[in-house]
Amino acid sequence: SIIPVILSGGAGTRLWPVSREGHPKPFMRLPDGQTLLGKTYRRAATLLPGGGTIMTVTNREHYFASKDQLAEACIGERHQAHYLLEPEGRNTAAAIAHAALALVETHGENSVLLVMAADHLIENETAFVQTMDHARQLAEEGYLVTCGIPPSRAETGFGYIETGQPLNDWGGHQVARFVEKPDLETAREYLESGRFLWNAGIFCFRIDTLLAELREHAPDILAAARECLEASPAHDSGGVLLQELHQDSFVQLPDISIDYALMERSRKVAVVPAAFDWSDIGSWTAVGELVPADEHNNRVDGNALLEDTRNTIVHSESRLVATLGVEDLIIVDTSDAVLVARADRAQDIGRIAKRLKQEK
Ligand code: GDD
Ligand code: MG
Repeated sequence: SIIPVILSGGAGTRLWPVSREGHPKPFMRLPDGQTLLGKTYRRAATLLPGGGTIMTVTNREHYFASKDQLAEACIGERHQAHYLLEPEGRNTAAAIAHAALALVETHGENSVLLVMAADHLIENETAFVQTMDHARQLAEEGYLVTCGIPPSRAETGFGYIETGQPLNDWGGHQVARFVEKPDLETAREYLESGRFLWNAGIFCFRIDTLLAELREHAPDILAAARECLEASPAHDSGGVLLQELHQDSFVQLPDISIDYALMERSRKVAVVPAAFDWSDIGSWTAVGELVPADEHNNRVDGNALLEDTRNTIVHSESRLVATLGVEDLIIVDTSDAVLVARADRAQDIGRIAKRLKQEK
């Protein structure tokens, strides 16, 4: 079997003002009423029809909200929830190292972990289950398995995977090279070469493989995580296994992602092609695409009246938003903030959240 490890950390500042520090992207409600985290829990549960452990690594401030999402996703009696609570974010290498070390105690080093981001949208569950079954097979053979998406643009916010030797007849390959977030020129080159896939940010591996690779390529992270976990005993809290990561030791960990710390360096990386549609909902443009466009290519989620308006995304939580004679805009209305941006600046919206943080 497989143990889903859900990473829920980043604030998702490009989706300001709906996603922010106190209310990060995994808790954002989509037009269908579900949150990204709730959908992630449902997806994890479909991999465990007979029950099993589901681990979440998140900030301690988000524990109760996360548990609510778990309950809303109807994950019941058959699943054991295990939470690792961080005092502050130290990026994904730290989160994954702690998850592996905590689970080796309870499940043994041959267990296979599936690391999933809490803020991705994957709608086709059957295809997801099938791809994850392939990933598990390669993980059992001792690979660090990534999940590859055919690239559709020269995106600089993703990792790129160059496929190497084929490993089987359903598309699994060794990874010749893993390049995290290349610059635009390099991303264009990779896209044109046709040899690269995007890294979907879903990782599958046996615990012993991960620990051995960390020992070789990031021994400092492994040692610090081990020390921290020793100071962070697990206890039962109303049926949930809870581990609050010891503050003083946790903040010693370097702030680096698993992509830079390990995936770029390891020679044991393999990739399985994703059979499902995937979006990391990275911007308002991607959120807009979740609702159908009207005849003028406007996309509205909420209460809006559009007159003589084109190519505009409107997201309103409660108030009526009315537009007249405008085009190419993103308009987001929440109870305490309004965003109006040019549609082609969707990638820069994080700048606003950054300035607000500086000025606070
Ligand atoms: N618990 C915890 N703690 N989770 C974290 C932390 C942390 O400190 N930092 C990030 N996460 C979670 C995020 O919430 C997200 O679910 C996942 O880990 C990935 O982190 P991001 O910060 O969103 O990474 P990214 O989008 O820049 O890049 C990664 O994902 C891309 C695909 O979306 C990389 O793996 C890329 O290679 C990949 O293409
Ligand atoms: Mg991301």
